Amino acid sequence: MKSEIHFMERAIELAKKGIYTTSPNPSVGCVISEGNKILSESFHLRSGSDHAEVIALKKLNKKINSKMNMYVTLEPCCHFGKTGPCTKAIIESGIKNIFISVLDPNPKVKGKGVRELRSHGINVNIGLCRSLSEDINRGFFSRIIRKIPFVIAKQAISMDLKITSPKSKWISSKDSRKDVQYYRAKSCAILVSSKTIKSDNPSLKAKLTKKDLDSKILINQPIRVVLDSNLSLRPDKYKFFCGSDKKIVFNSTKNFFHKEKNIDFVKVKTDKSGLNLKEILKILASRYEINNLFIEPGARLLNTLLSKNLVDELILYKSPDIIGKSGLQSFGNFDQIPKNTNIFVQSLMKLSNDVRIIYKILRK
Ligand SMILES: NC(=O)c1ccc[n+]([C@@H]2O[C@H](COP(=O)([O-])OP(=O)(O)OC[C@H]3O[C@@H](n4cnc5c(N)ncnc54)[C@H](OP(=O)(O)O)[C@@H]3O)[C@@H](O)[C@H]2O)c1
Repeated sequence: MKSEIHFMERAIELAKKGIYTTSPNPSVGCVISEGNKILSESFHLRSGSDHAEVIALKKLNKKINSKMNMYVTLEPCCHFGKTGPCTKAIIESGIKNIFISVLDPNPKVKGKGVRELRSHGINVNIGLCRSLSEDINRGFFSRIIRKIPFVIAKQAISMDLKITSPKSKWISSKDSRKDVQYYRAKSCAILVSSKTIKSDNPSLKAKLTKKDLDSKILINQPIRVVLDSNLSLRPDKYKFFCGSDKKIVFNSTKNFFHKEKNIDFVKVKTDKSGLNLKEILKILASRYEINNLFIEPGARLLNTLLSKNLVDELILYKSPDIIGKSGLQSFGNFDQIPKNTNIFVQSLMKLSNDVRIIYKILRK
């Protein structure tokens, strides 16, 4: 007999199919089973489209009976948003048993969905594979609970800790750069400094094809964000400003909307390090609903981020090259990192000649 964990793990696999598209919504998967068999399964694809539970119920082509179980990775919603409440659809379907992996921290739901289901006589079990489900939606949880996005910072770095080279535009291998595109695609926004825009002129798009994703789904392009204190970047000069996607320029001078190029200029306070980064994270979460933020910092910006404990995960693509004195050194001020910061290696992976190191940074 297949266990309940087996069906919830399948629902989690399905939820992962939405990680490139559901933002700002969480990614959710759902399975309906009877005995050893999965009768229907689904996942949430995009904000505004049907939620996973509703699709699974629509796809089910057998009359519901008391032996059937529904497995859903996140507590069903009980409010009207862009779609109707899932609890209503579940209650009306007649399903009698539901396994919910984790409660939705959104104040509009937060246990109310469970109460409504129970009040209609549905057996609700909570907590199966909870940490796996929390992990899929760590950005959504961060935005709702901490009021800031989940922050990943990445740098490509040489053996002698240089992040620029006079000889090449790239520090890391082609495989490492491809890997970065998946992180960009999973993020709601990508942030860089004005210095990086001026020296590299990046487009900051997630360059993944449907073939790369093994899917027909078109991914959402992340919002592009730059720190440009004194508005030194001319919008007609850099690839960053091209196209109709949303761009945000945080600065210390003015609030302004550039309609033609869809650029929000957002004024924020400054501190000793430059623009107030904590305030920027709060604005990205509250005004732009950014769950996952991917930062591609140079040396100075990474130092500030680490010294203010604003990074959840640091990804280094470390090449074996020795660049020498002419490259820009990263990691200048380790002594500014707060003493109570807890850093540990989460994973190591070889990509061509590089090593990808993912550090988990626990904020206290
Ligand atoms: N190897 C890699 O992975 C990688 C990644 C990114 C960049 N890079 C390279 O790194 C170089 C830039 O590095 P960098 O150290 O000179 O610059 P940086 O760390 O990328 O950015 C520093 C700039 O960010 C802005 N800023 C605003 N508020 C800030 C704050 N609170 N803390 C820190 N910075 C703040 C400032 O510019 P404003 O005054 O204009 O606001 C400041 O000059 C470029 O050549 C780029 O190619 C390499």
